[in-house]
Amino acid sequence: MAGRHLSSAGSGSGAPGGEHVHAVPLPVLIGVWGILVILTVMTVGAAKIDLGGANIVVALLIAVVKSSFVALYFMHLRYDRPFHSVILVCALSFVMLFISFTLIDTREYRPEMIADYAPAIAEARATAAGTPGAEAGAGGAVAGTPATGEDVAAAPAASADPERGKELYERTCTACHGPQAEGIRSLNSPALHLQEDWYIVAQLEKFRSGLRGADVKDIAGRQMAAMAKALPDDQSMYDLAAYITGLDGPPPTPEVEGDPVRGEEHYRKICVACHGPDGRGMPTLKSPALVGQNDWYVVAQLKKYRAGLRGTDPKDITGMQMQPMAMTLPDESAIRDVAAYIAGLPIE
Ligand code: HEC
Ligand code: HEC
Repeated sequence: MAGRHLSSAGSGSGAPGGEHVHAVPLPVLIGVWGILVILTVMTVGAAKIDLGGANIVVALLIAVVKSSFVALYFMHLRYDRPFHSVILVCALSFVMLFISFTLIDTREYRPEMIADYAPAIAEARATAAGTPGAEAGAGGAVAGTPATGEDVAAAPAASADPERGKELYERTCTACHGPQAEGIRSLNSPALHLQEDWYIVAQLEKFRSGLRGADVKDIAGRQMAAMAKALPDDQSMYDLAAYITGLDGPPPTPEVEGDPVRGEEHYRKICVACHGPDGRGMPTLKSPALVGQNDWYVVAQLKKYRAGLRGTDPKDITGMQMQPMAMTLPDESAIRDVAAYIAGLPIE
């Protein structure tokens, strides 16, 4: 067995002088081997549980313990001066500490990178998936990166068909959202074409399942909920999102009167954490882009959150996150200020 071989060969290796020779007892070697196996199983197990940033830390902690065991017993450091063992374990811990900081950092920035600064990646993925979404340019992102999250419809994201989305859109949505999804204010219907595909799907899913637009006092929300519920199937949401995000309508024109300077103060203090410094949203936090939305719609939604018409169903996890944020704005003029600031952010 390997253990036996190690114990006899180990006694001669690397030790020129006779006084340093020592044989590690077989039970110790087998014991250490057993611990390493258990730790490996733990690493695999821990990787299956989603601990967020803590995953990296747990994996590296186990790695430190494992490499310490290997060095101490298999490499005989344990029988050397204790000071050497302390140095080695400390060194290993520091290396892992630095690696974990680097990994956590990378992880933090990755979503933003892919979502906003590397459209080529999304495109390449969509092409690789070989779906019709790939040809539709922006719409292809639905096909490449299916919407994630417990409150978003799970399965049928594998491919999105913008052609079918076009049919559905022209039949049901044009009347209120306009032919280019540019929005129609007199109908309270917002522009959709500059929103992200995953967010369109998430909101359609909420309307469909009654998490949004269920309150009797939410008149506009109820109109939209009826439309979402009339969709033939879940796949329609993905097809529609693929079509809508590929539309080329004009960006919304600013209409709300507010003080963007005061608005910026509010925005930088609170909103920036989730919607990002440029208002482009953060897919990992499921917070949407706010640039490209009608400012009057931003105002209307903030009022709905504040009135408890949106984001108060305990099953609406992301809505419940946004709802208290809207409460941090002191009054109606603060709402208009923030909307005016967002409307001034560059879209491209
Ligand atoms: C009867 C008019 C009407 C029709 C038809 C309609 N919508 Fe809407 N839609 C609205 C209104 C009004 C809102 C705003 C709801 C609110 O204030 O909460 C809305 C909101 C939305 C939103 C949420 C946007 C956001 O940022 O919060 C999405 C997505 C959406 N509609 C997609 C669609 C799609 C796709 C269709 C076609 C299947 C469609 N709508 C058909 C009226 C309509
Ligand atoms: C804790 C993170 C977080 C913070 C901070 C935050 N938001 Fe949000 N916001 C979200 C999430 C998540 C959603 C999506 C909610 C949903 O699905 O109903 C959202 C949705 C919105 C919407 C609705 C957009 C739409 O099209 O439906 C508006 C408007 C908005 N946020 C504005 C703001 C403003 C203004 C602030 C600062 C006062 C702010 N948010 C702060 C997370 C946040």
